[in-house]
Amino acid sequence: MNYQKILDQIKEEVLPLSGKGKVADYIPALAKIPSDKFGIAITTLDGKTIKVGDAEEPFSIQSISKVFTFAMAFKLMGEKLWNRVGVEPSGNPFNSLVQLEHENGIPRNPFINAGALVITDFLLTSSFNPKKSILDFIRKISSNENINFNFDIAKSEKEHGYRNYALANFMKSYNNIFSDPEELLDVYFHHCSLEMSCVDLSKSILFLANHGVIPSSKEKVLSKSQAKRTNSLMMTCGMYDASGDFAFRVGIPGKSGVGGGIVAVIPGELSICVWSPELDKFGNSLKGVKALELFTTITGMSVF
Ligand code: DON
Repeated sequence: MNYQKILDQIKEEVLPLSGKGKVADYIPALAKIPSDKFGIAITTLDGKTIKVGDAEEPFSIQSISKVFTFAMAFKLMGEKLWNRVGVEPSGNPFNSLVQLEHENGIPRNPFINAGALVITDFLLTSSFNPKKSILDFIRKISSNENINFNFDIAKSEKEHGYRNYALANFMKSYNNIFSDPEELLDVYFHHCSLEMSCVDLSKSILFLANHGVIPSSKEKVLSKSQAKRTNSLMMTCGMYDASGDFAFRVGIPGKSGVGGGIVAVIPGELSICVWSPELDKFGNSLKGVKALELFTTITGMSVF
C-alpha cells in the first residue's frame, strides 16, 4: 500500500471543505489557531511513520487526552471503574448536564466531560502528583520527552470553564467525586491543554492497534481485553453524539478533541491522527472526519 500517495490525495480532496467549519472559541486561547492547518500521520505496527502537511506541528489535544487518562485509570483500577462510570453512548453533547440528574450522578461513559472528570478523580485520589504521572505516561507512549502542557490554554479554560465546574460540583453532590473540585479541574484542564503533533499522537495510540502492547518496546500498557474495551468505547462514544455517524462513515474506533485532532486505530495494522481546527456542530474536526472516511474508503481497511 502506498500510504504516502494516499495521504497526499486526501489532503487535496478535503481542501474544498475550508471555511465550512468553525474553530472552537469557547476556550478563547484556542480561537487564535489558524483555521487552515491540516496534517495527517500514520504509524504502522512495524514502526514506520508516514505524514503529510502540518503533521509535526504540536496542537492542543483537548479531549484526546481522555483516552490516555482512561487507559491509566483502567490499568490502575480495572473493572472497579464501572461502579462510577458507564459504557453507553450518551447521544448528548460532550459537555451536557441533562442526563446526570436522571442517572444519579453516574456519567454515561468515560469520554464525555462528566465521565472524564470521574476518571481524572480516580487518578487524583490515587497519585501523589497526577499531572506529572499523566505527563510521564504520555511522554513514554509517544517516545517524546518534549511533550508538555500549554499553561496559557489551561488558564484560559479555567477562566471560562463554568460548565466543567458545574459538572464536577454536581457529581460531588452524588458522592461520585472524591477530590476537591478546584484541584480536580486544575488537573483536568492541564491534561486537556497538552500539546502534541499528529506524529506524536499516532505513535502514542499505537498500543491500541496492538492488543495493548507498545510494538517497539514490547511494554504492555493494557491487557488484551482492556485494549479491546478501550477501542470499543472509542467506537461507540469517541465522537460524542456523532459517534454513530463516524462508525457508519469511517468504521474504525476514533477519539476527537476540540483542538481539531482525531486519533483512530485500525487494530492489527496501524494508528492514525489527523488535525484540522475547523469543527462541525458536534465539536469534531470537519476535515478530519472526511479525511478518515476517505482513508478507510481508499484503503478498504476498517474493523468490519
Ligand atoms: O472540557 C472541555 O470542554 C475541553 N477541555 C475538552 C472538550 C473536547 O475536546 C470535546 N471534544 N470534541
